[in-house]
Amino acid sequence: MRKWLLAIGMVLGLSALAQGGKLEIFSWWAGDEGPALEALIRLYKQKYPGVEVINATVTGGAGVNARAVLKTRMLGGDPPDTFQVHAGMELIGTWVVANRMEDLSTLFRQEGWLQAFPKGLIDLISYKGGIWSVPVNIHRSNVMWYLPAKLKEWGVNPPRTWDEFLATCQTLKQKGLEAPLALGENWTQQHLWESVALAVLGPDDWNNLWNGKLKFTDLKAVRAWEVFGRVLDCANKDAAGLSWQQAVDRVVQGKAAFNIMGDWAAGYMTTTLKLKPGTDFAWAPSPGTQGVFMMLSDSFGLPKGAKNRQNAINWLRLVGSKEGQDTFNPLKGSIAARLDSDPRKYNAYGQSAMKDWRSNRIVGSLVHGAVAPESFMSQFGTVMEIFLQTRNPQAAANAAQAIADQVGLGRLGQ
Ligand code: BGC
Repeated sequence: MRKWLLAIGMVLGLSALAQGGKLEIFSWWAGDEGPALEALIRLYKQKYPGVEVINATVTGGAGVNARAVLKTRMLGGDPPDTFQVHAGMELIGTWVVANRMEDLSTLFRQEGWLQAFPKGLIDLISYKGGIWSVPVNIHRSNVMWYLPAKLKEWGVNPPRTWDEFLATCQTLKQKGLEAPLALGENWTQQHLWESVALAVLGPDDWNNLWNGKLKFTDLKAVRAWEVFGRVLDCANKDAAGLSWQQAVDRVVQGKAAFNIMGDWAAGYMTTTLKLKPGTDFAWAPSPGTQGVFMMLSDSFGLPKGAKNRQNAINWLRLVGSKEGQDTFNPLKGSIAARLDSDPRKYNAYGQSAMKDWRSNRIVGSLVHGAVAPESFMSQFGTVMEIFLQTRNPQAAANAAQAIADQVGLGRLGQ
């Protein structure tokens, strides 16, 4: 009987039949954020029915809590079998330089991924001759969300610059809307900041901040904090207590006009709230960033010492496959990282993001791990606190530059 099963396994060329054991997948896609990951896990279970999948999630947008738990586990010698990590410096500057990850170059060659993924994205996950994670998607950071019906009711248009935004904000306040911009907890404030800074600096100087050519204390960069301060005056005062979903809810409920958030907001509004993109809600590039796509990519890596290594490799195969990506991303609000994904599987938002991804200038997100190492990212929250307390652009700029100097921003892999 066993021989017979093995023979079938060989004929099918699958290790699925022989596959048992467990697979622990670590991420921050919990609750409302879960459906896309759960769909991918269902697909994995169909292919490897003998494997017990442990969906280990730590709640908290942008991975603020998950990253702390991951660090404890990695340093304590208890890595999950695979974990969510942003492509770029979050991956390279934290886990790769510390020699904690397995090189996946061979898998990339075997699966044909060197052709399947855009070169720029492969560069982002490469370091010293190795390739260190498998991207599952591309998310966009610089998006402004609104309800067309509400804007019509209020008699305003989606603003195209921050000046227009500030003027619109005044109009809306006069109409009795206390806080036209919906904002959430600390990381979402940083998220807003990166959209403002991109508009004020433009893509070249945005990049220069991260390669060390432009100092945070440069007048141009200080100006980003000045504009940011004015934008904050349009936002709700209880921001610190709101999750990103609760900030989106304010727009959906007509209590605020705009929210600047990554396109997981599209996933939330379509998959969870069942709204129709393009009619119930709409979007535009965040003011002043037309033609620029601030990207980030969720990826999965293989830590050294993973207890269920083969099961994890099979997971990575699925994550990087066309089938896997076109199952995950339509639910997530992101687009596939692969170049051959099927646009018909995506809604109106996804299709518009695909178009922009192909035609726009691409830059990387700070808050979501693309451009700066975690040592900088994690301390940027403190810079934000300093700004919120002092409202002093120069103080925030000085604090950011001090951290940049301390971590040697721009020294690694740029
Ligand atoms: C991740 C997204 C996630 C968002 C909110 C981002 O950092 O890349 O996948 O939806 O955080 O948690």
